[in-house]
Amino acid sequence: MSLNTGIGPRTAVVTGAGSLTGIGFHTATRFAQEGWAVALIDVNAGGLEQAATGVLDQVPGAQVATFVLDVTDAEAVAAVAAAVAASDLPPVGTLCNIAGIPSPAAFLDTSLVEWDRVLAVNLTGPFLLSQAFVPQMIEGGYGRVVNMSSVTAQHGGGVFSKTSYAAAKAGVLGLTRGMARELAEHGITVNAVAPGVVDTDIRVGSDEETERALAAAVPLKRQARPQEIAALFVWLSCEDSAYITGITHSINGGSYIA
Ligand SMILES: NC(=O)c1ccc[n+]([C@@H]2O[C@H](COP(=O)([O-])OP(=O)(O)OC[C@H]3O[C@@H](n4cnc5c(N)ncnc54)[C@H](O)[C@@H]3O)[C@@H](O)[C@H]2O)c1
Repeated sequence: MSLNTGIGPRTAVVTGAGSLTGIGFHTATRFAQEGWAVALIDVNAGGLEQAATGVLDQVPGAQVATFVLDVTDAEAVAAVAAAVAASDLPPVGTLCNIAGIPSPAAFLDTSLVEWDRVLAVNLTGPFLLSQAFVPQMIEGGYGRVVNMSSVTAQHGGGVFSKTSYAAAKAGVLGLTRGMARELAEHGITVNAVAPGVVDTDIRVGSDEETERALAAAVPLKRQARPQEIAALFVWLSCEDSAYITGITHSINGGSYIA
């Protein structure tokens, strides 16, 4: 049964959807299963095509569009938003800002170039995408923004991603709270999702021992499945979540309890 009963067909815009093992791809697939059209965005063109095929394999007949985009490129973001508006996709109902990169460098070893890139992808990207797509939501009379943060924003990082990632993902929480206040008058909700360790390929180069240590440190003794994070993004995009805004939704197996 679709979670959207009254709003009619809508499009879910999902960034970071171009990895078949990633949270963005699973989120797009779950949206399609719930009857949404999906606009997949990623910087990885090949991955994006595989993702579109992957969604259609699981949900034959789904309406799927792809847009190759670096979320840090302001002009390109505006062009993609215009292309989505001009397409035959239904009105945009939600923007899920999931694209992100890790930063395993220790604080004292982090170059300014790396710092700038980590903030650009993880924080400036959601800012740019939101500015570009929210006007379409206001016009369409329905809107949700769900931003990807991380438990790293809450506890400062540790085994893998470190301080610049923690700063970027903490910035996402401030962005979310500010947008939630300012966009409430339009009926648009803005929330953040803060996962703990999730079983994806984001930790490039991480060995089995590190992965086991990450799981062992979680009270529930396992990593999250990307599908579990996807379900939260979809729920926060649906009508049932209309009275929840500006909140950090922790989904971390108990690894940060506050
Ligand atoms: N996996 C985890 O343990 C975990 C935990 C907490 C938060 N997160 C966050 O979840 C999000 C998704 O991560 P994932 O684990 O699915 O990793 P992933 O590497 O599978 O997916 C990230 C996607 O973002 C894309 N991307 C990277 N830079 C981009 C850019 N500049 N423009 C457009 N797309 C870009 C990549 O190509 C990739 O497809 C990230 O924001 C990550 O920080 C992940």
